[in-house]
Amino acid sequence: MLFFLIGLLGGCWVAQGENMKDQVDEEIFRQRMKRQIIDGVNVRELYKGTVVHYKDPDFEAGKKSYLDASATDLLKDKNHFRAFKKNAKLVLDHNLESNLEWVATINQFSLETDEEFSHHLGGNLTRPVDEEISSSPRKKRQVDLVVDRSVIEELEARDVDYTPYLPPVKNQGACGSCWAFTATATLEYQVNKDRTVGEEMVALSEQQCVDCARHGNGCGGGWPTSVYTWVHNHYSHFPSTYNYPYEAENSLECRNNDYKNAISGFTIYEVSGEYILTGNDEDLLVAVGNSKIGVISTCIQLASDFTSYSEGVYSSDDCNDGGSGHCVTIVGYGKLNGVPFWRLRNSWGPTWGDGGHINMKRGVNGHSLNMCQVASDAHYPYIEGSDDGQGSGTESEAIRLDCGDGKQLEYRGVINTTISGRDCQRWDSQEPHSHTAKPELHQYKGLEENYCRNPDNDERAWCYTTDSSERWEYCNVPDCSLEKWCELLDFEYSDRLPGSQEYKTKYEDLNSAKSNCYSNPLCTGISTSSDGAFTLMAGDLSFNKGSHVYSKGLCKQFTPPPIGEYCEMDNVKLISKIAMATAITQLEAQQMCDFHEELCVGVSGSDELGYSLHKNKASREDTAQTTWLKGDCPDLTKCGYGDQGDYRGNISVTADGKTCQRWDSQTPHSHDRTPEEYPGYGLEENYCRNPDGDPTAWCYTMDAKRYAECDVPTCDE
Ligand SMILES: *[C@@H]1O[C@H](CO)[C@@H](O)[C@H](O)[C@H]1NC(C)=O
Ligand SMILES: *[C@@H]1O[C@H](CO)[C@@H](O)[C@H](O)[C@H]1NC(C)=O
Repeated sequence: MLFFLIGLLGGCWVAQGENMKDQVDEEIFRQRMKRQIIDGVNVRELYKGTVVHYKDPDFEAGKKSYLDASATDLLKDKNHFRAFKKNAKLVLDHNLESNLEWVATINQFSLETDEEFSHHLGGNLTRPVDEEISSSPRKKRQVDLVVDRSVIEELEARDVDYTPYLPPVKNQGACGSCWAFTATATLEYQVNKDRTVGEEMVALSEQQCVDCARHGNGCGGGWPTSVYTWVHNHYSHFPSTYNYPYEAENSLECRNNDYKNAISGFTIYEVSGEYILTGNDEDLLVAVGNSKIGVISTCIQLASDFTSYSEGVYSSDDCNDGGSGHCVTIVGYGKLNGVPFWRLRNSWGPTWGDGGHINMKRGVNGHSLNMCQVASDAHYPYIEGSDDGQGSGTESEAIRLDCGDGKQLEYRGVINTTISGRDCQRWDSQEPHSHTAKPELHQYKGLEENYCRNPDNDERAWCYTTDSSERWEYCNVPDCSLEKWCELLDFEYSDRLPGSQEYKTKYEDLNSAKSNCYSNPLCTGISTSSDGAFTLMAGDLSFNKGSHVYSKGLCKQFTPPPIGEYCEMDNVKLISKIAMATAITQLEAQQMCDFHEELCVGVSGSDELGYSLHKNKASREDTAQTTWLKGDCPDLTKCGYGDQGDYRGNISVTADGKTCQRWDSQTPHSHDRTPEEYPGYGLEENYCRNPDGDPTAWCYTMDAKRYAECDVPTCDE
């Protein structure tokens, strides 16, 4: 048992040890102890545990009370204290080793129990089969991994660091979403790599991935390819992390259509992944060394000491045989004091490790270490196109909302007083209240000046107050539903609400039109009229070129065009017209349909006739008119729309289990629904069909019962 007494005396650390290991020089020990004391962390009497004073610069719970106090409170708890003692011992024991290649430190995780710590991971090492990117039709191998020695030697001879092309290190918090962070990092590199170093870099929304790619369980772990697959299958909008901020919580709602695109010009919906599954450091080197690929996602295995990494080149004997999975991003490679390493970006904030990164030992000269499986599950996305400059993915391009929805995380307005009228304290000041919500520790949270913000996922925006007797208070930030209006050019709603006189009212001033529209739940927007006045709109919509509409609610995206999002069908009928277009193109109709995501299922029409938007899908339609359905094309051998007249599968039993009679046979039942009489209805074999507008697909049966309905699935389910 070792007992150390460590105290802070005049800013200088003094270590006194009984039974200190003889072979470690006291000065060296002191140096190492110094390095493990990061800013604000103060460890006393680690092993006696009488006074443990812990102060974590990034400790989230610190808002309502002083951090050290709440950390002390935490340590009063047996489990936290035990965890802290265990972790502190690991750190000290490691740092006392001779031939130290990396230094361990006490940090924000040292207090956490194993269970608590598990929430900062999220690399699920069981890759879901249905999410394998290899099923993607766009799978491409961009790099020939078999390259000759001279290329490898050339790559090994230089250092590579892509971090200048990435936005600041992010923090996943207590949510198992590492997979989303590494996937967005690889996408960020792809869209930033042609920018100039020093420019602002695009930062993409990892919360969108959490919300959308894992069916409401994004914090429960995942796989980076879930993001690639989701983007590939559903891409319409990829907002920035500034506009779709990170919440570190599962949300059942995929809000990907609510915000402007962060990036533009890329055919990112064609994103695909490519694996480097060889487990070979050299194969990985070829990919990382190729700046077209550069930044790579990987899921590694963790040894228990990984968490406490602070600097140097990390290696472990304990991370190659299973264990918890964690996904990180390979952002470069190099050598430190002659020891080769991979530069890995973590998602535990900038205070963890080496500025949020870790250097992990790398094999060279044909000797692969594959440390912690770093090269076993590496993957990168494939994106076509280049930035057209129309996106809004950097902090200064992002829409600055002067209102907030829900928790108001995205609020970027300038309100600087609290509900009780107190002035807010500046975020970069520690007076009168000392706190850890420092701008440099909380990127992406908009901690500017003394503006009300919500950096800690509280109920709504707040600030520390300049009143020393009131540490913090909520602010009166307005709801976006009241304040947020999306201005649309060239489109107009028409007033179709029957008998509603109200909507005939014209307002001379836009603000009074807005406030009347806001207080009326039926109002969907405001339109300008030819005399310059403003009219409220409601209900169904139609649109014409040349007018100007303010739509209530979040601004939605009209560009880029939704190529790839629509499935072209000539055998599905769209019904319940919601809008008839005049002089618009198919593309505009699809954009309009996207905009009205809840209402519109697809578009039909032609350049001559114009295009219509529709609310419902129905059966087969024997006209030349083409329809475009939102989303993927349905497989009509598996399901049918509406009355299932378009079903072409081979179900040949009825819902009550009777075998179907062949359509070209007249026994046991004679009938006139023959393939000759009903061409175009797919009356093949004895398959369930609907040639005559019944409510659902059916067949004549081989039983005494003449005919019966079949149990054919509906495509929408
Ligand atoms: C990992 O993924 C598999 C398959 O999707 C799932 O069954 C399992 O529960 C996941 N494990 C964790 C820890 O989330
Ligand atoms: C608060 O903001 C207003 C206007 O934005 C400014 O005039 C005022 O000086 C600010 N108050 C403080 C205490 O910063």
